[in-house]
Amino acid sequence: MTGEYMTTLTDTPHRYGLITRILHWGMALLFAAQFLSAAAHWALPRENATRDLLWSYHYPLGATLFLLVLLRGAWGLANLPRRPAHTGDLFGRAAVAGHVAIYALMVIVPFTRLLAAAGSDRGFSYFGWQIFAPRETEIAWMQAPAELHGEMGWVLALLILGHIAMAVIWHRLIRRDEVLHRMAG
Ligand code: HEM
Ligand code: HEM
Repeated sequence: MTGEYMTTLTDTPHRYGLITRILHWGMALLFAAQFLSAAAHWALPRENATRDLLWSYHYPLGATLFLLVLLRGAWGLANLPRRPAHTGDLFGRAAVAGHVAIYALMVIVPFTRLLAAAGSDRGFSYFGWQIFAPRETEIAWMQAPAELHGEMGWVLALLILGHIAMAVIWHRLIRRDEVLHRMAG
């Protein structure tokens, strides 16, 4: 493996590498599907075939996204010293704060529901593999944070919409800088 090939896999100060891009764009698609299932759950009446179909993958896809965000976070930290840097001014610091907030919610949102499943009387299986066995009695403190799962999920959706607007409208159309290119170009 040549050094040049390595730099396309890992991040460099000028552009995000292949692994970061696959994680970013692959997870963007998966999040779109996850929010579609959440939107159908919220908007469509019960006993609706489309709602059932879209809801049928919410748990397994949500658990998959939880695993992927841990992987992505570890990869991001490993690449931190050579990633494209942000400016030290207010804009650069706001961008970093926005990314950190998105990361935090990408972990917390699925975690609250997985924690509830771990303390539930139904247990939890992932593609037929039992992760949490059903309990005789539910554990109340493990259920409590999940009451905010949906609300926090919608906050994450708003942050992502703001993120997309910043990338496309601010960076691409107004500033015409290289920020979109270092993830997409
Ligand atoms: C990153 C992953 C996830 C996102 C973005 C997400 C997002 C959402 C959103 C926005 C809602 C609200 C839907 C509504 O208003 O009707 C919701 C509901 C729900 N989700 Fe998720 N979810 C994720 C992962 C999971 C996981 C892993 C589980 C189960 C193990 C789960 C179980 C549920 C359940 C039971 C509801 C309905 C009750 C409630 O609103 O809390 N979700 N999800
Ligand atoms: C059309 C959709 C999207 C566009 C155009 C877009 C664009 C970008 C761009 C240009 C960057 C680099 C920003 C920089 O270096 O300052 C970036 C980074 C980032 N994006 Fe997106 N993005 C999209 C969707 C998403 C979604 C759906 C999520 C979360 C679920 C997300 C989360 C992140 C995060 C956390 C970063 C920081 C870098 C990292 O660790 O991956 N993006 N995005």
